[in-house]
Amino acid sequence: MSGRIAGLGDRELVVFTFDDQEVNARQGDTIAMALWAHGQVTVRNSSSEGQPRGVLCNMGICYDCLVVVDGVTVRSCTTLVKPGMTVGRGGKS
Ligand code: FES
Repeated sequence: MSGRIAGLGDRELVVFTFDDQEVNARQGDTIAMALWAHGQVTVRNSSSEGQPRGVLCNMGICYDCLVVVDGVTVRSCTTLVKPGMTVGRGGKS
């Protein structure tokens, strides 16, 4: 059971990596939602105290969901998955 809404699983499979783990997503998923469906809710740690951070606003405002995609820092809640992308934990904010 993937936890996805019925019918949404019919979309094309997209495979990418997060911290060297292979993640299966569907075309049109954001990185944040793909990671959430994969069971990965922490995407970075705060720079000040190292506290776990993940999706908070889910609309591109809070920056808690920062990840690094192929060397570029992006908000995972507003960035769509692409096949073969390399995603790592986000840095400071
Ligand atoms: S969850 Fe707030 S910017 Fe992504």
